[in-house]
Amino acid sequence: MDSPLSPSSARKEAGMFLTLIVLLSGRSQQAMASQSPQDVECILFNDEYLTCTWGSKETLTANYSLYYWYIPPRDENHTAAEECKRYLQEGGINTGCWFNHNEIIQFRPFYIHVNASHGGRSLVIPTKVMKLQDLVKPTPPVNLTIQNLSNNQLQLTWDSIYAKPHCLEYAVKYRSNQDTSWTEHLVSGKIFSFPSVDYEKYYTFYVKSKINQYCGTTQLWSEWSVPVFWGNNATDKGPAEEQAPWFWIHVVLPTASLMLFLVLVILLIRMER
Ligand SMILES: *[C@@H]1O[C@H](CO)[C@@H](O)[C@H](O)[C@H]1NC(C)=O
Ligand SMILES: *[C@@H]1O[C@H](CO)[C@@H](O)[C@H](O)[C@H]1NC(C)=O
Ligand SMILES: *[C@@H]1O[C@H](CO)[C@@H](O)[C@H](O)[C@H]1NC(C)=O
Ligand SMILES: *[C@@H]1O[C@H](CO)[C@@H](O)[C@H](O)[C@H]1NC(C)=O
Ligand SMILES: *[C@@H]1O[C@H](CO)[C@@H](O)[C@H](O)[C@H]1NC(C)=O
Ligand SMILES: *[C@@H]1O[C@H](CO)[C@@H](O)[C@H](O)[C@H]1NC(C)=O
Repeated sequence: MDSPLSPSSARKEAGMFLTLIVLLSGRSQQAMASQSPQDVECILFNDEYLTCTWGSKETLTANYSLYYWYIPPRDENHTAAEECKRYLQEGGINTGCWFNHNEIIQFRPFYIHVNASHGGRSLVIPTKVMKLQDLVKPTPPVNLTIQNLSNNQLQLTWDSIYAKPHCLEYAVKYRSNQDTSWTEHLVSGKIFSFPSVDYEKYYTFYVKSKINQYCGTTQLWSEWSVPVFWGNNATDKGPAEEQAPWFWIHVVLPTASLMLFLVLVILLIRMER
């Protein structure tokens, strides 16, 4: 049983070694290929400005330029491709483009062409046609307010700076000082009812927003809002309650058992005498 094991395990090891080499070489080939960036990411911030970025100074080996155009409705002629007017730069290298409000047209196919010439070769970052209404990232909700309703209910309300509030949906996350993890709820309006509040706890709430399915197709959430706090902030009470069992289990109990043990040992020694 023992002897056949070693060749097979040796074979296994060799196999694993080979797999590792293949994986590693695949990685390095990928790393070499990714000298020209893989994609361009565009985000339309709160309908106010657009940025398209394609890397950082570390990842870019060439100075790329961006050209863009929209496909207009059928009866108009195509606009000529225009070059980016305001590049985002790192150390003199273009890493992205910033578009102001006048350059943004939603609900029309938006095309970009990002290219560079490098050592006599011309490089192009492949891009897909985009719809800007699907790339909106709203600003976080503001003015979070908590109302203490009767019978253990809280009501959290907030405002939004986004110009089309009917286009937003929200997520609320909250946690009390005695929870270890956050609870998150999706909400369609600017109100969240919190049904069973414990007046002894101290709660923290955050809200974020996203364009809903009626106005676009996006997974881009805003950042979380500034938090709002509510509840019993008596810091000495909460931790004291939490500390009590800990104190008993980890301090009192071991000390007591040790004392008991010592007393028994002493008794035993005396009896032996
Ligand atoms: C489109 O281009 C054609 C010729 O290229 C021109 O005659 C026509 O006026 C243009 N239409 C518009 C709406 O600019
Ligand atoms: C990259 O191109 C921009 C203009 O698109 C130019 O301002 C900048 O100087 C160029 N950087 C280098 C290192 O050539
Ligand atoms: C990049 O593309 C634009 C528009 O098609 C073209 O005018 C320009 O010459 C190209 N630049 C390079 C470096 O290939
Ligand atoms: C938020 O509250 C401040 C002060 O109460 C108010 O001036 C501001 O208009 C509110 N913002 C929104 C978006 O309602
Ligand atoms: C909230 O309301 C309840 C009763 O309606 C009251 O007992 C409690 O003290 C209130 N808490 C705060 C922080 O106002
Ligand atoms: C709650 O306690 C924290 C620190 O213990 C303090 O920074 C904060 O201002 C308190 N908040 C309220 C509403 O009393």
